[in-house]
Parts: sequence; C-alpha cells; structure tokens
Amino acid sequence: MPNRSHFNAGHRGMNYLNKNGKKHSSYVDFKVPKKTYHGFFIQDSIKFLKNLPDSSIQLILIDPPYNLDLAVWDTFTNYIGWAKQWLEEVERVLTDNGSFVIFGGYQYQNGKKGDLLEIMHHLRHNSNLLFVNLIIWYYKTGMGAQRFFSNRHEEILWYAKSKKYYFNLDDVRIPFDEKTKKVYRKDKRLNPKSIEKGKNPTNVWEIGRLQGSSTERVGHPTQKPLEVIRRLVRGLSYPGSTVLDFFAGSGTTGRVCIEEDRHSILVDNDKKSLDYFNKHLNNMKLEKFNKNYELLVNPTLKDFLDKLKKL
Ligand SMILES: C[S@@+](CC[C@H](N)C(=O)[O-])C[C@H]1O[C@@H](n2cnc3c(N)ncnc32)[C@H](O)[C@@H]1O
Repeated sequence: MPNRSHFNAGHRGMNYLNKNGKKHSSYVDFKVPKKTYHGFFIQDSIKFLKNLPDSSIQLILIDPPYNLDLAVWDTFTNYIGWAKQWLEEVERVLTDNGSFVIFGGYQYQNGKKGDLLEIMHHLRHNSNLLFVNLIIWYYKTGMGAQRFFSNRHEEILWYAKSKKYYFNLDDVRIPFDEKTKKVYRKDKRLNPKSIEKGKNPTNVWEIGRLQGSSTERVGHPTQKPLEVIRRLVRGLSYPGSTVLDFFAGSGTTGRVCIEEDRHSILVDNDKKSLDYFNKHLNNMKLEKFNKNYELLVNPTLKDFLDKLKKL
C-alpha cells in the first residue's frame, strides 16, 4: 500500500505555511521576562483548583498519585471518583492554546483498580479536551520479571484545550550528529533547514530514570528527571507563560520553569515538598544557574496572581 502521509491535511497545511514564511494560528510572539515568579502552595489540590480563574494557565503538567501503594498518598478505594474532582477543573483553567499533560501507568494493575486508563476513558467521555499524543517514556533499567515481560516504560498523555494549542517543535528537536547531517545534506528530498534544526523527538522518549546516585535526586520517592519535564515545558509553553503542577512533589516542574523563564504554580499537600524544592534550588546554585526569580511560599492566591498581572 502506498504511503498516504502526504495526503494528511494538517501536514500539508504546515508545509504550505513553512514554504511561504507564514505563521500557524497558534504562533505566540513572546518576550523573555526579566524575572519569573513561582508560588509554592502547601494545600489540597482540589480545594486549590476551585479558586483558580478560568483560562489562566498555559500548561498543566501533573504526575498524580498512581494508586500503586508507593507511599501514604498513593492508595485509593475510589481513584476515579477522586480524580474526577480535579479533572473537572483542568479544562476550565487552561488558556485556549493551553495543554494538559499527565503522567501515569497501568502496567502493574490487575485488580481493576483506578489508573491512567480510567482517566483516559473518563476524559474521552466527559471532556472536550483533544487527545494529542500518548508519549512512551522508555528506559533501559528497572525490575526484572519471571512471569511477564519486564516493564521498561511509563506513559505520558498530552491533551489540548483546542486545535490552536501551542507547540514549539523547534525548541525540542534532537540535533543530528555531523556524520548523519553529511549524509542527509546529499539527499535532495530533504529540506536543508530541517537537517540543521534536528529531528522530531517522536512519541517514544528514551531517557534514563533517576538512579539512586543521581546528583539530580532531592529525596522525593517518585521524582521525575529534569530532561523529561524540560521537553514538555519547552514544547508546550513559552517564556513568560504560567505552568501549573498541582501534584508538585519535589517541585521538579518548578525548577525547570525557573531555568526556562516560565512562571510556575506548584501545589502539594505534603509540607516536606518544600524541603525537597529547596534542594532543587540548591542544586541549581551549585550548577551556577543564574536566573532572576522570586519564590513565594504559601502566598494568598490573589497576591500571587496580582504579581503576574502586573508584568
Ligand atoms: C508522584 S508524586 C509527584 C512527584 C514529582 N513529579 C517530582 O518530580 O518530584 C505525587 C505528589 O502528589 C502529592 N499529593 C497527593 N495527594 C495530593 C492532594 N490531594 N493534594 C495535593 N498534593 C497531593 C503527594 O504528596 C506527592 O508528592
């Protein structure tokens, strides 16, 4: 069967715009802010979300409890009943070009307990969010198994509020090595600009999990690697926009936002999160990462949002 990918209207539309130097309707002409603001709220996320204004967040990036009994916060008798309460708020608080990213898994589940599959099913039937990608985060190390194939991936779901979702592919492309570039430059079918920019990272990401000895580690039991979070923050939000993580854990999302010039709102109901986050900030200092930012711990939401409005 012939390859029909070139008949795809979206693909053809993008090629037309690129060829004619035109911008997609989702294009945002942003300015890199001189300073960014980061609010850390020790609170229950459902309560917190109810107070957030409509259309105020560019990217919601969450790594919620998985219902796998990994910690005291990770066991539910009615997981989807609980999750529905925060899922309801997600669509409302996103900007029209905003995105929602959720980490999770289902590969260990066998008792029909709540998991990411139920969340997917719920969103399909109860929201207008558009499903953009299922990203497979693949890693080479993990537990062995005797009665099934050893698990080596986790899932990341990406939803958008509307078709106008913001996506900056160029900021997350993976550069080709010089040898590959040399070969590709000889291929007349390939666009020379694309060769220089690098390749689309695809929806399978090979990024190592954090090992116990990793210098990134700050002590949170389910801390995510900076590289995974950075690709999402860079691709789906822009400098000066606001990113919300309402299951912040150690605040990995906040650290990436500081480094990438986004504002962030971090929420976790465990006050130990602040200690972890301070370790992240300290690691940034050790790496001589100099950015002008202000961290506000447990401010009133109004005060925090007023700071952003004044910019
Ligand atoms: C999977 S961890 C997030 C880890 C994070 N991605 C990181 O890199 O450190 C989930 C977090 O959700 C928090 N949490 C669980 N239930 C919550 C609730 N109802 N409100 C706010 N935070 C909650 C837990 O305290 C935990 O830190």
